[in-house]
Amino acid sequence: MRMYKILKKELLAEKIWLMEVEAPRVALSCEPGQFVIVKIDEKGERIPLTIADYDREKGVITIVFQEVGASTFRMTQMEEGGGFDTFVGPLGKASDFVKEPAETLIDRRYLFVAGGVGTAPVYPQVKWMKEHGYKADVIIGARTKDLIFFEDKMGSVADHLYIATDDGSYGFNGNVVAMMQHLFGQGEAYDICVAIGPLIMMKFVCELTKKTGLQTIVSMNPIMVDGTGMCGACRLQVGDEIKFACVDGPEFDGHLVDFDQAMKRSRIYKTEEGRAYLKAKEGAAHKGGCGEC
Ligand code: NAD
Ligand code: FES
Repeated sequence: MRMYKILKKELLAEKIWLMEVEAPRVALSCEPGQFVIVKIDEKGERIPLTIADYDREKGVITIVFQEVGASTFRMTQMEEGGGFDTFVGPLGKASDFVKEPAETLIDRRYLFVAGGVGTAPVYPQVKWMKEHGYKADVIIGARTKDLIFFEDKMGSVADHLYIATDDGSYGFNGNVVAMMQHLFGQGEAYDICVAIGPLIMMKFVCELTKKTGLQTIVSMNPIMVDGTGMCGACRLQVGDEIKFACVDGPEFDGHLVDFDQAMKRSRIYKTEEGRAYLKAKEGAAHKGGCGEC
């Protein structure tokens, strides 16, 4: 039986873990913005996780996860040398900039806004920018100093790295939105913002950037459940269209995303009764369906 071996396991911050996993086929073709689905064993739950780094030569994928429930708790009990039964990917669409021509990207100023665990999927995007000769500034926001991770890694690929803590224990005193306001107040100007973190953070980043007219991309990974288009958990309103984060995203134009509806729906989806309600209400449009599974 194929096993995807855990080569490294590290506690990055309280309840935030990093694992390096041997997955050469995924590492060969993945791009920034994409995700994988892991299963601990045959009967395990499918867990979608954004890719935090990849090494094509070594055939290794880095994942970062937060211990939030039974499955992620079980993942914390896995050890180096052990492995996953399933490690499927790369899934989802790559970040838009990967397909854009060099002459467009060279003139653009990117601001990446990483909130908490969202720092992990931001890293491969900024690394890609650096490897291709483009410049990107990064804000990492965390509740407190001890929850910050990837500071050195991100610092090595970002043009400017700004750290903000909600309690002021390190770096700028305030959340990422206050940090953005501070930068804009100092005259910093950007062409595109990429915000990845909790839904509430992405909502407030978008409220600010709508006012300043700064195009903003967000990652709707937090609302995914099975990652295949089949469960209906990640259904969301983007402008006047219904999209599914796992099939059509995970990245979308943040100014078009209805965050209030996504957060409300995500809460309803958590209970069996809520899932039955959404299924009944949404009928055939409840599920996405990627056509590949
Ligand atoms: P957190 O609650 O500690 O917040 C991280 C930072 O986001 C804060 O320090 C602050 O700067 C900013 N923030 C949070 N709420 C804000 C608000 N109301 N206004 C302005 N800024 C705000 O985050 P965490 O516990 O590390 O993150 C967990 C969440 O991140 C989970 O919901 C998880 O699903 C999500 N996540 C998202 C992605 C993604 O692709 N979008 C990837 C990984 C994790
Ligand atoms: Fe289940 Fe997208 S996560 S449909």
